[in-house]
Parts: sequence; C-alpha cells; structure tokens
Amino acid sequence: MGSGNCWQRLLKPLIGMLLMMHTVKAIYPGTFDPLTNGHLDLIARGAKIVDHLVVAILRNTEKGTPLFSVPEREEMIAEATQGFGNVSVTTFNGLLVDFARQQGAKAVLRGIRAISDYEYEFQMAMMNRKLDPELETLFMMPAEKYTYVSSRLIKGVFQLGGDVTALVPPLVVERLKAKVPGRV
Ligand code: PNS
Repeated sequence: MGSGNCWQRLLKPLIGMLLMMHTVKAIYPGTFDPLTNGHLDLIARGAKIVDHLVVAILRNTEKGTPLFSVPEREEMIAEATQGFGNVSVTTFNGLLVDFARQQGAKAVLRGIRAISDYEYEFQMAMMNRKLDPELETLFMMPAEKYTYVSSRLIKGVFQLGGDVTALVPPLVVERLKAKVPGRV
C-alpha cells in the first residue's frame, strides 16, 4: 500500500470528526397537526442558519386526539420539505432534551408568533435548560402574514367550511379534504 493511501486512511476519519464538531444540528420539535405555512416559514429560516435541521414530531402528545396520525404528519412534512437539502423529519417520545442529546443536536428551534406564545415558550426553554444546560433554544419569528396561523385554528376553520388554502401547503389542503367528511 502506498504512503498516500495510508495518509488518506488516517486523515479521512479525522476530517470527519472535525467536521462533526463544527456542524450545528438543531431540532425543531412540535405536534404539527397539521403542518402550516407558518411552520414551513420557520423551517426555511432555521435551515438557513444551521447545518442540519431535524423536524421532530412528538408521538405522545398531551393535546388530545390528533386529526392526523403520526405517520401521516411525518409524510406530509417530508413531502413539503423535500426541496431543502439539510432538513429531515422524524418522531420522538419522552423528553426533548434526551432526544436532542441522542441526535447530537446543539439547539432547539421554536417559533414565537406573538407575545402570547412567549410565556409558554419561556417556561419550556428554561425547563429544558435546567434539564440540559448544554442545549440552547433558538427563537425565530415567522413572516408577519403567518403570525396568527396555528394548527388548531386551521383544523377548526377547515372543519367549519372555511378556506385555508393560503395558510397551509397544497398537499395539506388535499389531506384535510380527504380527512374531513363533506369537504371536497
Ligand atoms: O407544537 P407544540 O405542541 O407546541 O410542541 C410542544 C413540544 C413538542 C415542543 C413539547 O411538548 C415537548 O418538547 N414535549 C416533550 C416532553 C418534554 O421534553 N417536556 C419537558 C420540556 S417542557
């Protein structure tokens, strides 16, 4: 074996390790029932500032019965984010800090739409910091036009016959139509 090959074998893992150390991975956790344009806007903003963004759907949500199953939500997010080279989708259970550590993530991304979000987000960020002081929470604001958009409102408005086409990706509109009886 030539000495060039030997150097390559030694250097490759070292370069890999150095790159890993300087790679910023963040988790964007949530319920995403369903994904909205506000979520997508935040994903686009997050993907610009971190090397890899993992959209993570909480499986054991305390928010009551979801409209979409976890696999349905995962599929919708995967489809809507396929244009991003550095975004992936997965699911998690249990503590967010444990999942973030498992993933080797340095940060959690959360969106703040209005002052009303702040208290809940602040409490969560502080609790996560208490549980893992190494994990940072990054807050970003979505575009103004999405500051009032929430998954809860989307479901409510759609179920009552309202038009949500400007507020969710087209594939979510299709899935809503298939899910809600009487809406075509
Ligand atoms: O979209 P949501 O429902 O506002 O997201 C809430 C979420 C999933 C980020 C939050 O409930 C969460 O992180 N749950 C995991 C359990 C956990 O880690 N709890 C302690 C932190 S407060």
